[in-house]
Amino acid sequence: QIKAFLFDLDGVIVDTAIYHYQAWKRLANELGFDISEEFNERLKGVSRTESLDLILAHGGLTLPDEKKAELAAQKNEWYLELVSRMNSDDILPGVATFFSQVRKAGLQTALGSVSKNAPLILERIGMTQAFDAIIDGTKISKGKPDPEVFTKGADELEVNYNECVVFEDAVAGVEAGKRAGMFVVGLGSADVLIQADLVASSLESLTVAEVLAKLPN
Ligand code: G6P
Ligand code: MG
Repeated sequence: QIKAFLFDLDGVIVDTAIYHYQAWKRLANELGFDISEEFNERLKGVSRTESLDLILAHGGLTLPDEKKAELAAQKNEWYLELVSRMNSDDILPGVATFFSQVRKAGLQTALGSVSKNAPLILERIGMTQAFDAIIDGTKISKGKPDPEVFTKGADELEVNYNECVVFEDAVAGVEAGKRAGMFVVGLGSADVLIQADLVASSLESLTVAEVLAKLPN
């Protein structure tokens, strides 16, 4: 019996994934190298500090912690600049319809995002009230692929892990959902999100009834 749907934010509800990528790319470029879209798949769902570590390793750089803190702050400043003009028009197609179906089905909702900026983004797009529980980067100690962000969401909703469905666009996020013991819907390409139980291109191409019909009995 499914009781709750848990949603990632970046790349599922809003397309902030592109802004994270642009800000990291700018940082890499200033450091003298580049990151590709393919490499960026590895950063999705990964925390700010871990993303920076992956990027520096990719560029063959080893830097002191102080410098790393400075670079992470710089990236966040650029990211905030990019998201500062966001509003409800930036909600991805299909999200509003899908959420009204979720409510009609009597399911609870939680946000499961590693981003410390998640509450700010939800405010900007007017979706704070759409979630019964909000787990963001300030409430967890381990980022995806650790399952903490989703198990905490289920705990806050007081539902069992096997009563939850996770919606994710990131490889690390799909793994986190699976490790939490949840049914995972991957949003994106089936070639990339190979661990997902079901893959659709976005919430626009999916109905709540279709998801519930795919669940194991
Ligand atoms: C999400 C995004 C990642 C981002 C992380 C931390 O998981 O998918 O790309 O690095 O949040 O975001 P923050 O806003 O805290 O830097
Ligand atoms: Mg995401």
